[in-house]
Amino acid sequence: MEKVTIQLLHEMKQAKNPITMITAYDYSSGIIADRSGVEMVLVGDSVGMVVHGFSTTLPVTMDMMVMHCQAVRRGVQRAFLIGDMPFLSYQTSIEDAKRNAGRLLAEGGADAIKLEGGRPMIETIRQLVTMGIAVQGHIGLTPQSVSAFDGFKAQGKDIESARRLVEDAQALVEAGVFSIVLEAIPAKLAALIAQRVSVPTIGIGAGNGCDGQVLVLHDLLGLVEKTPKFVKRYADMAQTIQNAIEAYRDEVRERHFPTQSHSFSLDEAVWKQLEDEFGA
Ligand code: KIV
Repeated sequence: MEKVTIQLLHEMKQAKNPITMITAYDYSSGIIADRSGVEMVLVGDSVGMVVHGFSTTLPVTMDMMVMHCQAVRRGVQRAFLIGDMPFLSYQTSIEDAKRNAGRLLAEGGADAIKLEGGRPMIETIRQLVTMGIAVQGHIGLTPQSVSAFDGFKAQGKDIESARRLVEDAQALVEAGVFSIVLEAIPAKLAALIAQRVSVPTIGIGAGNGCDGQVLVLHDLLGLVEKTPKFVKRYADMAQTIQNAIEAYRDEVRERHFPTQSHSFSLDEAVWKQLEDEFGA
């Protein structure tokens, strides 16, 4: 299958063909996501919560992101791979943003980076784009600002914040983003933004009017207990995995595993000699 490019994503928006994006954090989930035919794979900083068990994304570091990107890169051939910029990797200075975004591409193997924020991030985005780095924006509920938002709450529900999001989206496009994630905002507002901007909008908790959708892999698979209202679980993998581990535990206890087919045989002559030497 043809490798996904920014041009293809733009063509999909024009043709009104929905775009699918999913997160992945390691080699095997990268392979499966790629094989599933999604257009974009995001190594999200949600890795901090669903893989490392933190209660927010704030403790995630650049080194963690680079390592997870490298693992996913080894599994992803066709999909467009995006590395997420973690907290403090780009807010501190434009120089930090350039160096760290460069690391996600050069060391992590990502095709593009994603960062959170609206107009305050415009100059940073402009300079990254000038360096030749493809940037995906992310507005609405931006989890790195969880404290400022008083928790993981939907955004854009009053006129001021709704207007701010429309203007932020337009400013991001002017700064050169190739796509924008819209997280946890009213469906009508997201659809309005999708109509007004020229780049693909990818919604998560933003209704059906975006150009595409993204979900966190562990949420979709039912691997984590608590999920936001906007998540649809497509599997109950926690239960499936638990059933498999329990079956394994029982077979070990009952000496039903391993069987001969899982074991290595020993040449009869070698066994005879061992018996002579060690009296087995
Ligand atoms: O980190 C992440 O997984 C994300 C998606 C929810 C868009 O930012």
